[in-house]
Amino acid sequence: MNMNVTSDFQIFEEKSLAALDAREALIDEVWRGLRKRPRSLRPWMFYDAEGSRLFECITTLPEYYPTRTERDILASYAQAIVTATGSDYSRRLRLLELGAGTAAKTGILLEAATRLRSEVIYFPVDVSPDALDEACDSIGCLLPDVQLQPMVANYVTHPPKLERFNGNTLATYIGSSIGNFSPEEARAILRNLRSGLRAGDALLLGTDMVKDMATLVRAYDDRDGVTAAFNLNILHRLNRELGANFDTGCFRHRARWNRAESRIEMHLESTRDQCVDIPAAELSIQFAASETIHTESSYKFTQKTLGALLDDAGFTIKQTWTDPRRWYALTLAGLQ
Ligand code: AVJ
Repeated sequence: MNMNVTSDFQIFEEKSLAALDAREALIDEVWRGLRKRPRSLRPWMFYDAEGSRLFECITTLPEYYPTRTERDILASYAQAIVTATGSDYSRRLRLLELGAGTAAKTGILLEAATRLRSEVIYFPVDVSPDALDEACDSIGCLLPDVQLQPMVANYVTHPPKLERFNGNTLATYIGSSIGNFSPEEARAILRNLRSGLRAGDALLLGTDMVKDMATLVRAYDDRDGVTAAFNLNILHRLNRELGANFDTGCFRHRARWNRAESRIEMHLESTRDQCVDIPAAELSIQFAASETIHTESSYKFTQKTLGALLDDAGFTIKQTWTDPRRWYALTLAGLQ
């Protein structure tokens, strides 16, 4: 047990509140997305305990290059990234991480930070309390000197408030999660984040870049069907949590590249005419054969679209690190 983490009771309380909120949010989302055509559900719904486990599996698939490519870039340049963050008037660093998940890669940055700075605070924010527990356990074990301040929150609807801090803040948003949002939503998220930062602070943004279509599609439609299971888990989740009766054998995973929008789309395609009941949401939905539910968009960037996004959100690019194939980018940006 880490002594530098929030009390168990506080975590328990946060968890039960989060569970109630999650049910409400699921019902709202089903109402928003399934009563209209084309039908859609938002990707945050993937990440219940089973979905988080399946996502961890995806990150190790041979076809899914983003995680391993980002990790390699971090491993090569963590020290350079921390050094390029802020001025050296302060030896204190606060690392805020949006969508921290289990912090599998963040340890690399935090380790470099503890070597370069005298005091390091890690402030992970995530919707999944289970993932945050794991994040804190692993960072607490690996780097006992790092102070932990985990927060369960949906950073889109509830942007984390940053308390005044005598030092630099490095806000990290890695894993290409920004790619799940439309350009308008992405700009709003980064603007919100920007408003909590001050001179000397920085943003580290991880983005997956445009590349040949075959590589992109394969990364979202792996041979072993792990991504298919991850996608279908949304329906299992609605069955488990809202008492729905989706026959998951009658929906197929689809991944396609939408060139005009520069995004991979994942859909669940109904294989026949069928009716589904979702009792907790008091809904019955009729699906036509081959009708789809759009469950995820994963935007891919170019230097140009990335620069425009950061510029619109009030940031200015300081430095970019990438892999030899330029498949993935980690961009450090300061305030304009
Ligand atoms: C976690 C949003 C970065 O878009 O690549 C992986 C999620 N979906 N395989 C991505 C995901 C299908 C992933 N992100």
